[in-house]
Amino acid sequence: MQERETWSSRVGFILAAVGSAVGLGNIWQFPFQAANNGGAAFLVVYLAAVFVIGFPALLAEFVVGRNTEQNPVDAFREYAGRSWALVGALGVLVGFWILSFYSVVGGWVLRYIAGSATGAYFADPSGYFGAIASGTDALALHLVFMLVVVGIVALGVEDGIEMGTKVMVPSIVLLLVGLGAWATTLEGAGAGYQFYLSPDVDALVANLPSVLPSAVGQAFFTLSLGMGAMVTYSSYLGEDDSLPADGATIVVLNTLVGVLAGLVVFPVLAAQGLSMETAGMGAVFESMAAAFATLPAGRVLGLVFFLVLLLAALSSAISLLEVVVSYVVDNTSYDRKPLAAAAGVGIFVLGIPTAFGINALSWYNAVAYNLLLPLGGLGIAIAVGWVRPGRSTTELRRGSGASQAAALAWLWALRTVVVLALTVTLVLGVKSL
Ligand code: PHE
Ligand code: NA
Repeated sequence: MQERETWSSRVGFILAAVGSAVGLGNIWQFPFQAANNGGAAFLVVYLAAVFVIGFPALLAEFVVGRNTEQNPVDAFREYAGRSWALVGALGVLVGFWILSFYSVVGGWVLRYIAGSATGAYFADPSGYFGAIASGTDALALHLVFMLVVVGIVALGVEDGIEMGTKVMVPSIVLLLVGLGAWATTLEGAGAGYQFYLSPDVDALVANLPSVLPSAVGQAFFTLSLGMGAMVTYSSYLGEDDSLPADGATIVVLNTLVGVLAGLVVFPVLAAQGLSMETAGMGAVFESMAAAFATLPAGRVLGLVFFLVLLLAALSSAISLLEVVVSYVVDNTSYDRKPLAAAAGVGIFVLGIPTAFGINALSWYNAVAYNLLLPLGGLGIAIAVGWVRPGRSTTELRRGSGASQAAALAWLWALRTVVVLALTVTLVLGVKSL
């Protein structure tokens, strides 16, 4: 076996993990999930899901990764026993699955970068999306996106992943803050804020059975949970980090980006007179394109916005591929480069149907949200919370100064709230597939 790689620093780890978390999930998916699930009502349930379920689940993945220093398959085998390797294996498959359509959306972003530079979408910002989302061009751009992802992962943990994620987070936050401030000046934006920020409590209660699985699924997707990405990244970690502090940083930054994206998209949709309730997978692309078409210096702004979105998508995509690659690197004598390329080919092929139809893409997406991620998360929570409780609390506390009481609170959150919420999500989510 080759010698295992590590991050060069704690900051490198945190940035890479934030890079994995912050992605299309925050800026592309979050607004349309919110739109389809009642706007503000979704925001409330989603925020609760992130902090009450996502945060403890994130720490569970960190515990397994740092403790075992292995890819997810071998990590779970060593951590909880032979048959738990299945949880890791599911994660590797889910990495394949999610990246296959994530990359198609990454291809849309490439398209909008070019479209900003040339002004291609300026004449018909809302029609443009429908015209480019599916077809042979979408397929070609899916290929280009996958080539870039494979290229970065082939370079390795420190030179590829760590270097690649360093500029991204600050630039995303800055840009979204700027766009958010501009959005407040738009005429007609008020309806967008209203939809996004003032929950209708009766509707919330009535719709909870459908909002809950979407919100929990979104919390898992957005934090890169339930499939071993965070296990993999923390497996490259040294000893003396505080897992709870790192986890909190990641959760807060990721949430901030998601909420900010909503503060841009909804007012802009409202100001354009576009529908919020029925906003679909094109919501962000259509609303942002419409905004840039009317803004002074819209070409430059559009270019910058979609470039940032590309960086966010790439830094998440590499973590999806890294789950697959870390498994084969740890278990074969082949070099990282050909392995990354081979995995990339498989993922490209799996994604082909989603490049030819929005319906296929939304089905792939729903399978990940409603089934695969909650299922993986449930396996992880049980392995960490119920199968190896002592090992888990000890590892959580290591290097952090966290008290035993705090570790136990985390353990019981995992054992009860997280397991229960994921079970309910799974039952309700599978029904709605
Ligand atoms: N968290 C990423 C996003 O929000 C997507 C992702 C999911 C990445 C699962 C890795 C693992 O875009
Ligand atoms: Na995210």
